[in-house]
Amino acid sequence: MNNIFDSHAHYDSDAFDADRKELVSALPERGVCGIINCASDMASCLTSLELADEFPFVYAACGVHPHEAEGCRQGYLSVLKKLCMEEKCVAVGEIGLDYHYDFSPRDIQQKVFEQQIVLAKELDLPIIVHDREAHEDTMNLLKRYKPKGVVHCFSGSAEMAKEVVKLGMYIGLGGAVTFKNARKPREVAAVVPEDKLLIETDCPYMTPVPYRGQRCDSSFIPYTAEVLAEVRGVTSEEILNLTRRNANTLFRLEL
Ligand code: NI
Repeated sequence: MNNIFDSHAHYDSDAFDADRKELVSALPERGVCGIINCASDMASCLTSLELADEFPFVYAACGVHPHEAEGCRQGYLSVLKKLCMEEKCVAVGEIGLDYHYDFSPRDIQQKVFEQQIVLAKELDLPIIVHDREAHEDTMNLLKRYKPKGVVHCFSGSAEMAKEVVKLGMYIGLGGAVTFKNARKPREVAAVVPEDKLLIETDCPYMTPVPYRGQRCDSSFIPYTAEVLAEVRGVTSEEILNLTRRNANTLFRLEL
């Protein structure tokens, strides 16, 4: 039975323009049972929803990425709310803080993140969080609002992972755990409780070893699962089964 549930993908990316339809439609033959396609701005909310309409195993997360926070127009929240109420939107994301690139001023990133957390709570949807070099401010907001959701491509310490889990949230791990210098994500992988772990690609980025550098897609997830399995002392099939179960629970699906 297919058990690859990719909890974080960007098939709307122009990296897939040449072969999107062929590639995505072939994924179930390669073991994929579910995909959450995460938007990054208002335009990609629409393309994510279109993809979700086209493929029964694809669902959308609608939201504004911190990189795009400064571009939000007055009234974006009411438009976003309507998109989030679409049948195949199962999360608000990806949203968060990115102090590595600082493409949007930090105060605006914080405001837009907070507004979207409040929206998710109002709609009773989980959030998909992007946190890059902004651990303290991210944790403060998560502790204040206690949303449901996942911190994706988790880059914090094992200690921080435990705090996130204590809030009832999930930890998303992807190709980064396979990289040579991946001490921290592997430490995290070792401590996340079995019922709080999600697996993801963040494709087209973050391709796991041994294909690092190539374009990524959901069929690469078994390479990530192998490393997670090794760290946790289980089989990669068990990792795929439990991450599938967890994604279905968090996003209220049956894929
Ligand atoms: Ni992403």
